[in-house]
Amino acid sequence: MRKPRRKMKRTSAAARPRIIKTLQILRGAVANYRASGESIALVPTMGALHEGHLALIRAARRKADRVIVSIFVNPTQFAPGEDFQTYPRTFEADLAALTKLNTEIVWAPPTEVMYPKAFATKIEPAGPAVVGLEDAIRPHFFGGVATVVTKLLTQCLPDYAMFGEKDYQQLRVVTQTTQDLNLPMRIIGVPTVREKDGLAMSSRNVYLTPDQRQTAPTLYRVLKFCCEKIAEGRPIASILSEGREAIERAGFALDYLEARHAENLGPISSLNDGPVRLLVAAKIGATRLIDNMGVKAARGL
Ligand code: PAJ
Repeated sequence: MRKPRRKMKRTSAAARPRIIKTLQILRGAVANYRASGESIALVPTMGALHEGHLALIRAARRKADRVIVSIFVNPTQFAPGEDFQTYPRTFEADLAALTKLNTEIVWAPPTEVMYPKAFATKIEPAGPAVVGLEDAIRPHFFGGVATVVTKLLTQCLPDYAMFGEKDYQQLRVVTQTTQDLNLPMRIIGVPTVREKDGLAMSSRNVYLTPDQRQTAPTLYRVLKFCCEKIAEGRPIASILSEGREAIERAGFALDYLEARHAENLGPISSLNDGPVRLLVAAKIGATRLIDNMGVKAARGL
């Protein structure tokens, strides 16, 4: 019987990751890992790394022998007037964090490598990408995400790719696209990392003024309250309207607070309709925050 291969142990001091900017070099590095039978996990990011991203990278490290982190601020998922130009770019600090986590490769393609002049293909996801949540507010978004993620997956050919539950609809869309296109990698969801007061970590939290930062955890508190009440069997519609009022009273402009089927994100009206996920998006000042939480139904309901 073949012995299961042991995970490589790294004992030497952390080395800076190898920064790769061309497809040819990336393909060579990936082929070498594959030739020596090593497994690969990819963590796609847009940089400005925080503890949420680092949790994905730690999870990747536990799963695979080699970790590739991609850093690419993807222009096609921003609409004109969104924050593409001002999106935080902190490459040196990101590299320092990735060095500590022993990341082997940073895949940082220039825009013209990802989208050469003649680029002419777009993936248009449906299913969980057209359920009237983020897609209703940012109609360009999931087409951009599905296209770039599919490219990242086929460029890096990992065994696993890690995505945060923080962007829950994105996680469901990427899972669906990967399945529909028979891409041979496993998409792994990683729980949301929060600040002590419950605010979900996000690269966009740096935009918040001190006052807005104080108010921001309202989203978490309302989600928690609604999840608890719904799990107790209280009617979903009335609990959600209480939640919506609380968010607006705190000073947010609410885009949505909805209860959906946790897998297909379709509408549900009771706990019997399937596993329930609450999803929220709201603006405070100029900053848009999103969050979500699963309802853990009490037994016997
Ligand atoms: P970005 O916002 O940089 O997020 C990269 C990954 O980190 C995503 O999978 C996201 O869900 C995860 N993440 C962000 N905050 C998190 C938190 N607080 N806890 C756990 N995970 C968290 O999402 C994107 O980039 C892009 O859309 C991308 C998938 C890279 C495609 O361009």
